[in-house]
Amino acid sequence: MRRRTSLQLIGLLCVVGIAAHLYFTPASRYRSPADFEEPGFGSGEIVEEEERESTIPRLPADKPKRDAVVAAFKHAWSAYARDAMGADEYHPISHRGTNLSRSGGIGYTVVDALDTMLLMRLDKEYTQASEWVRNSLTFDRDGRDRCFNTFETTIRVLGGLLSAYHLSSDKMYLNYATDLADRLLPSFNTPSGLPHSSTNLQLRVGIPDGSVSTAEATTLQLEFRYLAEQTGNKEYWYKVEKVMQVVDKAKLPNNLVPISMNSNDGSFTPSEIRLGSRGDSYYEYLLKQYLQTARTEPVYLRMYQDAMAGIHKELIRQTPKRKVWYTAELIPGGGGGDWRTSWSLQHKQDHLVCFLGGSLMLGATTVHLAEHHRQAKRAPALSRSPHSGPSRPPHMSELSEIGKRDWNAGVKLLDGCMETHKTATGMSPEIAMFLPDPGQPEREWHIKGSKPGGPASYDARYMLRPETTESLFLAWRLTGDPKYRDHAWGIFQAIEQHAKLPGGGYATVLDVDTVPARLDDKQETFFLSETLKYLYLTFADESVLPLEDYVFNTEAHPLPVFKPTIKPRFTL
Ligand SMILES: *[C@@H]1O[C@H](CO)[C@@H](O)[C@H](O)[C@H]1NC(C)=O
Repeated sequence: MRRRTSLQLIGLLCVVGIAAHLYFTPASRYRSPADFEEPGFGSGEIVEEEERESTIPRLPADKPKRDAVVAAFKHAWSAYARDAMGADEYHPISHRGTNLSRSGGIGYTVVDALDTMLLMRLDKEYTQASEWVRNSLTFDRDGRDRCFNTFETTIRVLGGLLSAYHLSSDKMYLNYATDLADRLLPSFNTPSGLPHSSTNLQLRVGIPDGSVSTAEATTLQLEFRYLAEQTGNKEYWYKVEKVMQVVDKAKLPNNLVPISMNSNDGSFTPSEIRLGSRGDSYYEYLLKQYLQTARTEPVYLRMYQDAMAGIHKELIRQTPKRKVWYTAELIPGGGGGDWRTSWSLQHKQDHLVCFLGGSLMLGATTVHLAEHHRQAKRAPALSRSPHSGPSRPPHMSELSEIGKRDWNAGVKLLDGCMETHKTATGMSPEIAMFLPDPGQPEREWHIKGSKPGGPASYDARYMLRPETTESLFLAWRLTGDPKYRDHAWGIFQAIEQHAKLPGGGYATVLDVDTVPARLDDKQETFFLSETLKYLYLTFADESVLPLEDYVFNTEAHPLPVFKPTIKPRFTL
């Protein structure tokens, strides 16, 4: 889950932007959801490989821990449903809900939580949520006061609807998804093809402000491509594919991407390069786009490989003494001349970066197998192990040189993230600086902005974010090493101990290094859709969402792998 820029600023631009845009935009096309009532695109289709039987024993559930996570979900959901059913956001201390726009909610929390309920088999909660969708959800919301973010709406609401559709086969969700996508689509009508960062869903217009975060523009693809495949409407596919082409063309010689782009001409604007906010899920979705279409689009493999090479060279670093791995950021300019070629390093790592360890491990075991292992796969009868991936954990001989490099870095970076959990609460802060902490010499990092003995900084908080649990889930599935379950359980217990409210719900912890914890009045929707889902999956039997059959969108909504029937235009 990758997010958050300055929403206040966007709010201001909203009003001005709409006025300007209405003037220039022709009447938008409207396709009703009923236009897609065609048969033949049933959900639940997954790509069958010749041989799915594995000689590797399945990872069994840890039932008591799995059920404890389910109980936590119920504690979080029931408080929301009691105090704020239908509201976009939930404030569990003051027991109230708020909406993103004064014109009413768009199902942010409810839709985000549907698939977790389906996976956890929470029938009562699911019925309540799906009935709310059926009776109350509408995207006919103005949002003029505070525009709807194109990316957030896509990953949470469109992604949530698509996963709910896939898991339940209830066509209602596909109809809603189609309606929402049609309202978002005009945002792609820019000179460059990069989307506007905000959209007015009621008026069906994008808000032209000239600038978009790189990760926001490049983290819509899994959702729109799956919808295109399900509906047969190629426009969804081609609009998001075009974005990848524009970014690929603009990228820097080091194969990395600055976090800000100009949506008029498709160029990068002077801005940081990082794996944290506004950069992260660009890299995540390169691998996932390749996996989503059953490895049929080598262009994304090329982009992914190039980007990882750049990350190894420019961003991955180790602390001097204990060799803790982390990623740094590049700050543009300084040396004069072209900002694109002159960078300085900042040893700052967002919690968001913790998706990277698991992603590298997943990439190593899917797209970087050794040549002989790939051939063995094509002829299962000759193979020692007929399942579709390497051993668990992989033997290094099964991986290519790049695969070994990425696997090792993934493991080390995840270890590095676990270092940032060595705090008074066991939670990791929003931002860690990998520079020695004068107050705590045994730690080779410190919380950004916090001084020993001083007040906690803004970045000392833990907002119930999922990234470490996401990587732990992947690491557990790929290795079967119980240490990853232990870490996940440690994080879960920290949440239970410090973020749980006796009256229902969970709240943001303001300073991970102070106990007893002080709390902020917010239960983020991604706690229900991501953090608790990844924890649940870590303790569930591995037949729940096998990794070979699914990609998770950046909000943890699982989408099935498919062989595309639409012919891609962006190819090698
Ligand atoms: C938020 O929107 C929902 C409709 O989706 C409505 O039921 C609710 O009353 C709104 N809440 C607030 C606080 O305005």
